[in-house]
Amino acid sequence: MKTLISYLVILSILFAIANGSPPADPIKCSNRNLDCTIQNTYGTFPDRSICHAAEVAYPTTEEELISIVANATMLKRKMKAATKTSHSIPKLMCPDGENGLIISTKFLNQTLNVNQSSLTMTVQPGMELRDLISKAADAGMALPYAPYWWGVTVGGMLGTGAHGSSLWGSGSAVHDYVVRLRIISPAGADEGYVKVRTLEIGDPDLDAAKVSLGVLGVISQITLKLQPNFKRSLTFLEKNDSDLGDQALTFGKAHEFADFNWFPSQKKVVYRIDDRVPTNTSGKGLDDFIGFRSTSSLVLAALRTTEVAQELTRDANGKCISGGANTLALTTLAYGYTNDGILFKGYPIVGYHNRLQASGSCLNGIQDGLLTACPWDPRVKGLFFFQTTFSIGLSKVKGFIEDVQSLVNLVPKALCGLDIYNGILMRYVTNSSAYLGKQEDGLDFDLTYYRSKDPTKPRLYEDVIEEIEQMAMFKYGALPHWGKNRNVAFIGAIEKYAKADEFLNVKNEYDPDGLFSSEWTDQILGLKDGISIIRDGCALEGLCICSQDIHCGGGYVCSPGRIYKEANVCRLSSS
Ligand SMILES: *[C@@H]1O[C@H](CO)[C@@H](O)[C@H](O)[C@H]1NC(C)=O
Ligand SMILES: *[C@@H]1O[C@H](CO)[C@@H](O)[C@H](O)[C@H]1NC(C)=O
Ligand SMILES: *[C@@H]1O[C@H](CO)[C@@H](O)[C@H](O)[C@H]1NC(C)=O
Ligand SMILES: *[C@@H]1O[C@H](CO)[C@@H](O)[C@H](O)[C@H]1NC(C)=O
Ligand SMILES: *[C@@H]1O[C@H](CO)[C@@H](O)[C@H](O)[C@H]1NC(C)=O
Ligand SMILES: *[C@@H]1O[C@H](CO)[C@@H](O)[C@H](O)[C@H]1NC(C)=O
Repeated sequence: MKTLISYLVILSILFAIANGSPPADPIKCSNRNLDCTIQNTYGTFPDRSICHAAEVAYPTTEEELISIVANATMLKRKMKAATKTSHSIPKLMCPDGENGLIISTKFLNQTLNVNQSSLTMTVQPGMELRDLISKAADAGMALPYAPYWWGVTVGGMLGTGAHGSSLWGSGSAVHDYVVRLRIISPAGADEGYVKVRTLEIGDPDLDAAKVSLGVLGVISQITLKLQPNFKRSLTFLEKNDSDLGDQALTFGKAHEFADFNWFPSQKKVVYRIDDRVPTNTSGKGLDDFIGFRSTSSLVLAALRTTEVAQELTRDANGKCISGGANTLALTTLAYGYTNDGILFKGYPIVGYHNRLQASGSCLNGIQDGLLTACPWDPRVKGLFFFQTTFSIGLSKVKGFIEDVQSLVNLVPKALCGLDIYNGILMRYVTNSSAYLGKQEDGLDFDLTYYRSKDPTKPRLYEDVIEEIEQMAMFKYGALPHWGKNRNVAFIGAIEKYAKADEFLNVKNEYDPDGLFSSEWTDQILGLKDGISIIRDGCALEGLCICSQDIHCGGGYVCSPGRIYKEANVCRLSSS
């Protein structure tokens, strides 16, 4: 079995090639642009519901966008902006009601202005990060910090507070580089049903609009403050995790682009030692992360089959072997970084920032009939997972890391399943003036883990990740990533934002009838109950915290946490 799994992992890496089938359009309509559904790119929302909308509009200019918002406001239609790629896991892009309108930013993807003397760039909201990076680099400029996956749009990154990793400069969040934006919102008949506002630094409304969950209207233009493009030198260094709690406090101050990949069950951490170097340092490094390449659908099916079998037979050892093999293969291949765009010959990797900051080659492919696809493409049998992503303030992060380590000491194999998804990614985030941005400097933890296609089937060591999720959110006061997570992470979340009321005041002013709000956004903003969905098996999907065994099912019982006793988690009754 061990050799088989390593073989599969190696195959999957060899068969991870560029230029495979790009993802499907997330919006599907049965009659031209009418009678539509929208999904996230993974094909499943946290509650597995289907989102219907009466119509989708595809504005190609700001004027069209204004007219669409005005017309829909006149008709009191519910609206939501949606992107071409639809990477938010929760239902942020879903309009409520029978007559809902999706406003797609797919064709609002132009560069409007590039100004090398002020180091700014103005773009439309549908521009993908990939294009932003390349257009900026063409002008000798760079966005210093951004997500590592480039298939997200500028509007989507702002809407959900997306970020890279840094404690330096203005911090790692894309929204903290916004100097100006334009937003189109509903208005009364006297104003022609639409209002266009231009917000600049100094205007407090910008602190609402730069992380808005889409509830203030549709952003039509974003001006970002960039930097002259620069070179970086990066080295991945593997160490044991004995002193990770202490390292977490200092490592990010020592290295501008620091992050960690933590493999708690292996008691290992990979440190990203990553800093700016003079531009005359030689190197043509390139990032093409293996996990973001097109991968053979046969290999993806074999990997999923193995994982499903391990779950079915509760094969914890098998998961640890798969996880270890995956970690070994990825670290050996430097995750897909190369020194020259072709080969990895050793560290450091030196290159221009625009070639190192993000990747996602499975997006740019040509149709090959799904012989290859992004590893999570719902049209093939491939990865299917939950993502629990939250940030914890630096003052508390050591305690959290040590609690997770104590859990691993009690149940050593419990977190091996994370390693199949490259461990826990830990990225630095910084406090922001955005009302719904980070409240203090901290570390963002990104956990990706197995999800069953059958919502009634518990996971192996279900209880341990549930305990980590509840411990983070309720013991350590973590903030959820707005564009990821399961419902549990949003319970009471809005109370953790000191300026939530200021945000709601702006929302009431910009969209008093809540046309851009939905049940989901009302819930996460604390305006409506119902984040917890209580039904049989609800805890398995993170829709509720169990209080009875029936919220678990499958022989799992609702039990207290092992370290965080206040947690209520689904545990196999015999374990
Ligand atoms: C908005 O409504 C006006 C008047 O009914 C119509 O002429 C115009 O085409 C509509 N615009 C859009 C973008 O639907
Ligand atoms: C904008 O998006 C459209 C549709 O996806 C695409 O065909 C076009 O090439 C994009 N334009 C730019 C400037 O990226
Ligand atoms: C670039 O920005 C500078 C400083 O803000 C301004 O004076 C100049 O007009 C801008 N140029 C263009 C082409 O927008
Ligand atoms: C972890 O590594 C440090 C050196 O970096 C060493 O002193 C320590 O003994 C190691 N801990 C374990 C448990 O191996
Ligand atoms: C890079 O430039 C600096 C000054 O501009 C010079 O001192 C240094 O020797 C150069 N380094 C290389 C590797 O060429
Ligand atoms: C972040 O926190 C520091 C220290 O409390 C403070 O000086 C700074 O103004 C804050 N930054 C923002 C953008 O709120």
